[in-house]
Amino acid sequence: MAALLEIEGGVPLRGTAAVSAAKNAALPALAASLLTAEPVVMENLPLLADVTTIRRLLERLGAQITDEPDRTTHIRVPAVGRPEAPYELVSTMRASVLVLGPLLARTGSARVALPGGCAIGLRPIDQHLKGFQRLGAEISIQNGYVEARASRLKGARISTDLVTVTGTENLMMAAALAEGTTVIENAACEPEVADLAGLLLAMGAKIEGAGSKRIEIQGVPDLGGARHRIIPDRIEAGTLLVAGAITGGDVTVTGIVPAHLSAVVATLEEAGSKLDGGPDWVRVEGQGRPRPVDVATTVFPGFPTDMQAQVMALLGLADGLSRITETIFENRFMHVAELNRMGARIRTDGATALVRGVAHYQGAPLMATDLRASASLVLAGLAAQGATSVSRVYHLDRGYERLEVKLQRLGARIVRRG
Ligand code: EPU
Repeated sequence: MAALLEIEGGVPLRGTAAVSAAKNAALPALAASLLTAEPVVMENLPLLADVTTIRRLLERLGAQITDEPDRTTHIRVPAVGRPEAPYELVSTMRASVLVLGPLLARTGSARVALPGGCAIGLRPIDQHLKGFQRLGAEISIQNGYVEARASRLKGARISTDLVTVTGTENLMMAAALAEGTTVIENAACEPEVADLAGLLLAMGAKIEGAGSKRIEIQGVPDLGGARHRIIPDRIEAGTLLVAGAITGGDVTVTGIVPAHLSAVVATLEEAGSKLDGGPDWVRVEGQGRPRPVDVATTVFPGFPTDMQAQVMALLGLADGLSRITETIFENRFMHVAELNRMGARIRTDGATALVRGVAHYQGAPLMATDLRASASLVLAGLAAQGATSVSRVYHLDRGYERLEVKLQRLGARIVRRG
């Protein structure tokens, strides 16, 4: 039997939860280890299915990876074997395309399966490819694979047509070893981009402006080893805060960077929760029924698309009508039908969900469709009257490190079966 989570709702969560390292910072950091033959040491890799997938991919590419007793992970890629990311891995995890930039820069060629659409949208990688072409690569699509070639990449001015997180990361990694200066305009400002730049700097790269819309990279001939501590996961933190708010509890998340969570904190405050914070923690106290809020997802520092489903679960219980607009992905409302099966009254109209709050959810058997949708179903189950089961938990395990254990420690009645 595939694993499922069983939840008995209605317990206000109370206590403190330590947040793990960010999935979306760990994946590019691991890909960056392909840029050097020297060891790259990660101090705090999160235990996630997506991290396992990229580790498998790196090993196929020639990486030697060891987990040390002190919780560090050592990655060394003395030489890249065949520079290819096969379809079986890319189709399980789109972020596998993050090896394209490093492979191209290190070996002069790369063959990476073209990811298809996925549960949340079409998600093309045209901006990554256009950027590599600007750096002098020849790109062709052959039998469903991107084939990229360049004797030595050359610095260039790149202005992406839209803001792309992994696109910015891929191009920044490639440009780190290019000849001359690269400027990325319209770069993603997400903290995960700045974290990757921090690792690349430690490896000897010359990068300025990461975390802003304009990144300047002075190419260097080689990069060396480094030791890196990945930033805390702002989405896991946000998910746990919503768990506190939605159950009318009192939850503190620790080991975080509060500035990474400001849009989520502001939304929870607007929804009527009481928030407090210090240098590396935020505390939420739920205050009865939430107030309705209009939310639109956007790029950092705006409200993150990766928190949209979770906040929808909260606003589904608000005393009034909330409007949630998804501007990043075209199909990220898969959780709506499942929330409605619990008694929510949510209607979608294109990119907007009209959420008419109900007083209670009822527990129900539910099916997860993607990572953040599964988190929203778990949150709704925690607040619901009666029992909820969430199947296809593998979606959740891609991006949350034992979420049910963290929730249990806060008093939730949640168990994993199978
Ligand atoms: N886009 C294009 N062309 C491109 C690249 C992107 O049209 O070449 C579009 C996408 O289809 C999307 C928008 O631009 O509509 C933004 O996509 P982006 O490239 O920024 O997304 P991503 O880099 O593929 C990362 C995270 C996602 C997160 C988004 C947005 C990683 C590994 N993934 O994806 O995380 O939702 O940025 O912040 O960093 C998740 O963790 O659940 C997750 C989906």
